[in-house]
Amino acid sequence: MLAIVMCVCAAPVAAETSAHGLYMLHCSGCHGRDGAGSKAGRVPPFSGIVGHFAGEQEGRRYLVLVPGVASSGLSDADTARVLNYVIGEWGDGVARPGYSMAEVGAIRQSRVDDIVALRRRIVDGLAQRGVRVSY
Ligand code: HEC
Repeated sequence: MLAIVMCVCAAPVAAETSAHGLYMLHCSGCHGRDGAGSKAGRVPPFSGIVGHFAGEQEGRRYLVLVPGVASSGLSDADTARVLNYVIGEWGDGVARPGYSMAEVGAIRQSRVDDIVALRRRIVDGLAQRGVRVSY
């Protein structure tokens, strides 16, 4: 038994988790493997939303500061990777600049008092320009 434990401890450090792996581990439990969210759980779908948000300055802040991301325990670098993965998979094909570790770090220095109000402001701003998000 002890030998087995020692073998596990001595195993080489696993390669960096892929962005897909990070998503599956930290996000898919609530958002689903397909990013569709859950009506019952009041988890919005990514498609129709994240691509638009990622094109707005306040939207980019929101995506980093939303509780599921902010409290994920992921480093700035891994947060950037998993958000870029989400935008790439479910951003409806729109081209958006990727998050860098530095951008995530800078956003995390800021605080948001009311995340729901922030989302509403972003959605209203988009609507004024004729962009309707789906949730
Ligand atoms: C415990 C469940 C849970 C986990 C885990 C979780 N989320 Fe969420 N997420 C939510 C809920 C619920 C919302 C809706 C806003 C809110 O209530 O916070 C949300 C909102 C979001 C939004 C904004 C969508 C919108 O339209 O407002 C993004 C982007 C997001 N999550 C990404 C992630 C990523 C990336 C991860 C993994 C690092 C993650 N979430 C982990 C539950 C979760």
